[in-house]
Amino acid sequence: MDKKTVRDVDVSGRRVIVRCDFNVPIDDQGNITDQTRISASLPTIRYLRDKGAKVILMSHLGRPKGEVNNKYSLRRVAKRLGELMGTDILMADDVAGDDAREKASKLKQGQVLLLENVRFHKEETENRPDFAKSLASMADIYVNDAFGAAHRAHASTTGIASYLPAVAGFLIEKELKALGQALVNPKRPFTAALGGAKVSGKIGVISSLLGKVDNLLIGGGMAFTFFRAKGLDVGKSLLEEEHIETAARALDEAQRKGTDIVLPEDIVAAAAFDNDARRLLVDADGIPPDYMGLDIGEKTIGVFRDIILKSATIVWNGPMGAFEMPNFAKGTRDIAHAMAMCSGTTIVGGGDSAAAVMQMGYADKMTHVSTGGGASLEFLEGKELPGIAALMNK
Ligand code: 3PG
Repeated sequence: MDKKTVRDVDVSGRRVIVRCDFNVPIDDQGNITDQTRISASLPTIRYLRDKGAKVILMSHLGRPKGEVNNKYSLRRVAKRLGELMGTDILMADDVAGDDAREKASKLKQGQVLLLENVRFHKEETENRPDFAKSLASMADIYVNDAFGAAHRAHASTTGIASYLPAVAGFLIEKELKALGQALVNPKRPFTAALGGAKVSGKIGVISSLLGKVDNLLIGGGMAFTFFRAKGLDVGKSLLEEEHIETAARALDEAQRKGTDIVLPEDIVAAAAFDNDARRLLVDADGIPPDYMGLDIGEKTIGVFRDIILKSATIVWNGPMGAFEMPNFAKGTRDIAHAMAMCSGTTIVGGGDSAAAVMQMGYADKMTHVSTGGGASLEFLEGKELPGIAALMNK
């Protein structure tokens, strides 16, 4: 990595402000349902404490749109973080107001303070210099460890880097290494499995992978736009009319560039978008007009599984079907299982596919499960992530 990291600065006795991505899922009762992102931030926080830094943490949670909203308070994160670290985490009542400032100024070496949700101020997402400056004024050094938010050019991810020495934390370092290694000189066969609802959200990554990967497996809702590009009827399945042409071009380009695009051969179709709706297993060219495809079928699972097991590198991003409904989760589950069985390098892009892998308890079986959804996708697209670009070069 060409960016400086926490190892490259002397943090002892200094106030270090760390941007984490504590944007964790919370249920209706306010419980954290997946603490992966909190656990992933521990190596950097522990390192800073051990080196005698005064640690100030900040993050967003949800999209409170610039308003204080208790539902999105980071207090619950402070509690969980404290449990994981076995120490008390101080909590500020505000982000960069009187309480935060006072607590930050009184920090002792090795103590950790968490600021309130940075998105309680609209200046955060607007990347307003004054707000960035006031965050910076509480500290001597800035560490970005929020890989999941590195694709956002916000005050706490990029703006603040103009006012303080800015370095990467260990999570960002680990993510860039794992995702970067997969793309630069991958062991072959190199396969990407892409799913999710829409072609429009994946166009960038599809075109950047054509010619790089040997196989591109396509599942999820976006497969139907590809079906239409091949002239198949898709019934009431999700379809992006305006992207049929894009899909056709990708199929063409794949052939020219030597990437094998593998589309589903069969589909689990349903009479409605409902877990209990009537279901049919049909061939790709047999979706009835009043049915919608909601998962990949058994034949497809077999084909995808064989390719995955034979791959030396595999990157997966996006569920294969409407996996939030148990009756349409099999494709996603079986692909996660095949990835877990694969002896090659297995990388799971964040978001829904990472959540599926976590739920199934396969995380330990993967080479790397990214904590970034949008961020990992943009990285795979070859885009520069603003939160990383803003850090100091080595
Ligand atoms: C994520 O969950 O992908 C990151 O935390 C970024 O969140 P955002 O999409 O609300 O910016």
